[in-house]
Amino acid sequence: MSVDATAAREDTSGERRVRYPHPVLAARAARVLRDNDTGSVVTAAPRLYPHMWSWDAAFISIGLARLDVRRAIAELETLFAAQWRNGMVPHIVFTDADAYFPGPDRWGTDVARDGPSNVRTSGICQPPVHAIAVQRVLEAARMSSPGDRADAERFARHIWPKLYAWHRWLVEYRTPGSSGLIAIVHGWESGMDNSPRWDLPYAAVKPGAELPPYVRKDLSAVGDPGERPTDREYDRYLWLIEEMRRASYDQRRIVRDSSFLAGDVFITALFAISCDVLIELGREFGQAPEPLGNLAEWAANARAAVAASCHSVSGMARDRDLRTSRWLDTQTIAGFAPLLCGGAPDGVQLRLLSLLDSERWCGHPGLLAPVPPSVSPLRPGFTPRQYWRGPQWPVVVWLFWWAFERRGWHERARRLRDAAILLTEDGSFGEYYEPFTGEPLGSADQSWTAAVVLDWLCS
Ligand code: SER
Repeated sequence: MSVDATAAREDTSGERRVRYPHPVLAARAARVLRDNDTGSVVTAAPRLYPHMWSWDAAFISIGLARLDVRRAIAELETLFAAQWRNGMVPHIVFTDADAYFPGPDRWGTDVARDGPSNVRTSGICQPPVHAIAVQRVLEAARMSSPGDRADAERFARHIWPKLYAWHRWLVEYRTPGSSGLIAIVHGWESGMDNSPRWDLPYAAVKPGAELPPYVRKDLSAVGDPGERPTDREYDRYLWLIEEMRRASYDQRRIVRDSSFLAGDVFITALFAISCDVLIELGREFGQAPEPLGNLAEWAANARAAVAASCHSVSGMARDRDLRTSRWLDTQTIAGFAPLLCGGAPDGVQLRLLSLLDSERWCGHPGLLAPVPPSVSPLRPGFTPRQYWRGPQWPVVVWLFWWAFERRGWHERARRLRDAAILLTEDGSFGEYYEPFTGEPLGSADQSWTAAVVLDWLCS
């Protein structure tokens, strides 16, 4: 589909939910990506997130590749130019904007030995979906023109060692203990900030009296503060940053001492498939056998860890509190991690697929669109309007769609994609959606939502 960004100028206000025809929806998505482009980065969202976020940038590049392959490549190059010397890809690369808290001064990563010298960043990471993005950009380029194809191939070859260093960092620094799960040291690293997944580990985080005072900026950037995490949650988020800053962002110290350490089953599953993708790219571009062998071993270990986490009755994959060595039983979207990466026994996989279709998830009769919410609507504490405690997130649906396609489950993938387009076809590109009404929530004109919708409409 060729996309005309100028075709999208209609108003979305009004009583009834607007449903744009797909060419207009694609044009609106393209316009969001162009409007959010500062020239050097496509910000994650206009007001709420005026910087570059790591996994947002990966999804954004996937959407940009449908418009301008070179712009997509530039986005990923900007992110990886901020890669830390130890291999970590930081979760935020800061622009000059002042509208976001916590900004670079609060993170204070200048004290870190391994940080980049040319740009200011946060001091944590986000899910490793970047190899997937590089491969997707390459696929789009190959359907575009010989020039785009050559550029994308050159880029894939050039970025491969950086992707490998990022994956190696996750293995070297973030697989403590015996569970094999990749560990996070802050809920923000999971990308699912205040998901009930992290309620127990966060309950043990006790902000000290020395927590420097702060003023949140996110609340004024969304219509309803109730859609954002609470102040109590923010105190804990900020306290963890304080702990890391005091440890000079030394990963070994943080993993050893910080108040929060959890094995993240969703990241572990994404890591396994990203390693697979990196192997495919590495084979294509002539990488040496040794790193390819390491990636295969890391993928196998990650898959085994995901499979070992599955609950014996429900089959759902579980995170693990690595401070208390307890499994975290929550009915969130992350429990379906084995469907992303495979490797669980057939019986477990079948149970998960039928659970996903059941009224606890996509089959819930009240849903506007049958895509999985972040939390089961039948779980006590499900909150349909609050950030990661209930709403549907199109980017998460994209990951399941992409994985299902890859696994050969084309009919399932098609159903998910069609439902996600139904959810987003009001053209507002919300950050997340109220599952029963389809109301867009959080930030409007969220770049990654526009990007994945554009990718769906063009594929
Ligand atoms: N998602 C976080 C925020 O809301 C940062 O990663 O600011």
